[in-house]
Amino acid sequence: MQLKLVALTLSIFWPWWSFEGAVGDPQLFFLTFECSTVSARDLSNLHQNRNASFAALRSQVSNQSKHFAAAQSTSGSDPVYATFQCRNYLSNTDCTTCFDAAAANIRNCSTGNTAHLVYDGCILRYLNSVFLDNSIIFSSHTFCGNQTADESTAFGTVGLQVLMDLQIATPKISGYFAATKTHVAGGAIYAFAQCAETLTPDTCLNCLSNQLSNIQGCLPNTNGRAIDPSGCFMRYSETPYFADNQTTDISLFLKQGPGGSMRKWVTIGGGLAGALLVVILLSLFFWYRRSQSPKRVPRAYTLGATELKAVTKYKYSDLKAATKNFSEKNKLGEGGFGAVYKGTMKNGKDVAVKKLLSGKSSKIDDEFESEVTLISNVHHKNLVRLLGCCSKGQERILVYEYMANNSLDKFLFGKRKGSLNWRQRYDIILGTARGLAYLHEEFHVSVIHRDIKSGNILLDEELQPKIADFGLAKLLPGDQSHLSTRFAGTLGYTAPEYALHGQLSEKADTYSYGIVVLEIISGRKSTNVNVVDDDIEDDYLLRQSWTLYESGKHLELVDKTLNPNKYDPEEVKKVIGIALLCTQASPAMRPAMSEVVVQLSSNDLLEHMRPSMPIFFESNLRAP
Ligand SMILES: *[C@@H]1O[C@H](CO)[C@@H](O)[C@H](O)[C@H]1NC(C)=O
Ligand SMILES: *[C@@H]1O[C@H](CO)[C@@H](O)[C@H](O)[C@H]1NC(C)=O
Ligand SMILES: *[C@@H]1O[C@H](CO)[C@@H](O)[C@H](O)[C@H]1NC(C)=O
Ligand SMILES: *[C@@H]1O[C@H](CO)[C@@H](O)[C@H](O)[C@H]1NC(C)=O
Ligand SMILES: *[C@@H]1O[C@H](CO)[C@@H](O)[C@H](O)[C@H]1NC(C)=O
Repeated sequence: MQLKLVALTLSIFWPWWSFEGAVGDPQLFFLTFECSTVSARDLSNLHQNRNASFAALRSQVSNQSKHFAAAQSTSGSDPVYATFQCRNYLSNTDCTTCFDAAAANIRNCSTGNTAHLVYDGCILRYLNSVFLDNSIIFSSHTFCGNQTADESTAFGTVGLQVLMDLQIATPKISGYFAATKTHVAGGAIYAFAQCAETLTPDTCLNCLSNQLSNIQGCLPNTNGRAIDPSGCFMRYSETPYFADNQTTDISLFLKQGPGGSMRKWVTIGGGLAGALLVVILLSLFFWYRRSQSPKRVPRAYTLGATELKAVTKYKYSDLKAATKNFSEKNKLGEGGFGAVYKGTMKNGKDVAVKKLLSGKSSKIDDEFESEVTLISNVHHKNLVRLLGCCSKGQERILVYEYMANNSLDKFLFGKRKGSLNWRQRYDIILGTARGLAYLHEEFHVSVIHRDIKSGNILLDEELQPKIADFGLAKLLPGDQSHLSTRFAGTLGYTAPEYALHGQLSEKADTYSYGIVVLEIISGRKSTNVNVVDDDIEDDYLLRQSWTLYESGKHLELVDKTLNPNKYDPEEVKKVIGIALLCTQASPAMRPAMSEVVVQLSSNDLLEHMRPSMPIFFESNLRAP
């Protein structure tokens, strides 16, 4: 299916910030219209199919009073699969009016084989292939009002709580919609959430959590909307747009827990909202903010010293002797954290000695030992072991186990290009996922690597992968603000939200992992634009992978040095699909690394998983 959509019109017909929609109108306030640039093969066939499916939709809406309708007309070369959804608080007459307006205007897309049009009251869309699970995310749109609520009303805090509750409750409600009215000092917040009925509860939750992360940026402004035209909608306002008797009691669907009774208070106690309530809500808000904010690698001393084994201290003179005075000959490479040397200890054991870039910051002194203690306690077969450390003056040195086979990039693009077969590549893909899953989810504290790339994946004698350089970001000299940590990543592998906004989570590693997987499959560097005669290859790796996968030509991505008789095309397709799930634009949509391990290990072909389009991030890729 072709997802190349372009916004034809995103014009706003009248100042929507002043418009809220009254109760009992079809809410034809225009939000967005997108029309595919891909033309139908036969326009009159498209128009016939479109008319037929729209007629079927209309009869379901107007005659059977449906709020959600699906219809298809598939004769000829250009099938049309259409869905319509109107907000459940609208009357049958208003839904029909909204449908008629949408159907008339979507015909402005005269040649495109895919389009959608969204009003406040309803959404109409059609595609040229069947709606698979509808987990396809075209694009998210957020519309924030520009008036700020009065600070004293706690509008922002209460609003955030309501939206969070809606996100949790809506997927559990039959019909997937909920409208709530919540009192705040001097007024109320009217909030609504809805998912397409074809979604699974999980995809509904996923979709809404994306919208929540967008719409929360509107608070404390008095209204906001966030939509994903392929799946869900969220809206809040201080002005009513549905009647009081149309609200849903969502408290039944919220998990009963310590917060459960408080939520009830929010609903019924708005007018009474005393100082205590505000304090509780504020702490909830900050707790939420914190849980949303980038996770930092917690310090070792918070773990209780007894849990962790002390780190081995090496003598500087021993390391100096082992590396022949850190000679150029022994140098294995130079990374973001400093140079690495091969060393041979007195007992004959080989080690890798990493001299960290020296910094003037005293922070390093304070944190060096606790960080190193933490890292040296990470034991997993897919993670490089830190054997010990050494401090002398300003010098900080880490000693690692030595990996005979050097790093994965050498096998993919370097001297040993073409020497890995498919089975070995698959094992590297799986092992790397296991190592990351351990760092993120199984170790005492969640460790985010921040710099996953093929140069940081080392191979042992059996060509099993071991991830290097984890846990080091805090040991970089300089201050630890976004600005400096942003450079911890490597261009081309860095998740867009991390590169652009410094938002760091485990999902940034998931993204980089997805890029590495594409490199392993294709034998191409993520940052290189491959200029081959065929024009589609004149493109960088992620975009090319997406294009080929979407057009069913994914096998063209596979490294030409691989023997086509030696791999299973279905397995290759599955792995490319997983890589594209990992590189989706929305961090929330990307799988956790433990899910990646499960997906890789299972034989299901992930029929239900459809990756959404990544952000193509070209400016990032003109890097050397
Ligand atoms: C489809 O419907 C529109 C509007 O009702 C009409 O103008 C057009 O002629 C129809 N096209 C076809 C091919 O039936
Ligand atoms: C509505 O339903 C009735 C009976 O089910 C049918 O006769 C009529 O044609 C339908 N109207 C439309 C517009 O589909
Ligand atoms: C469709 O075209 C008509 C006529 O040009 C225009 O008035 C209307 O705003 C357009 N609708 C959309 C959604 O672009
Ligand atoms: C909201 O934005 C519009 C257009 O930018 C402006 O005319 C209006 O004054 C703004 N309202 C407020 C309260 O800032
Ligand atoms: C809901 O309230 C409206 C007036 O606000 C009234 O017209 C309507 O009949 C009520 N509906 C129900 C089901 O009570």
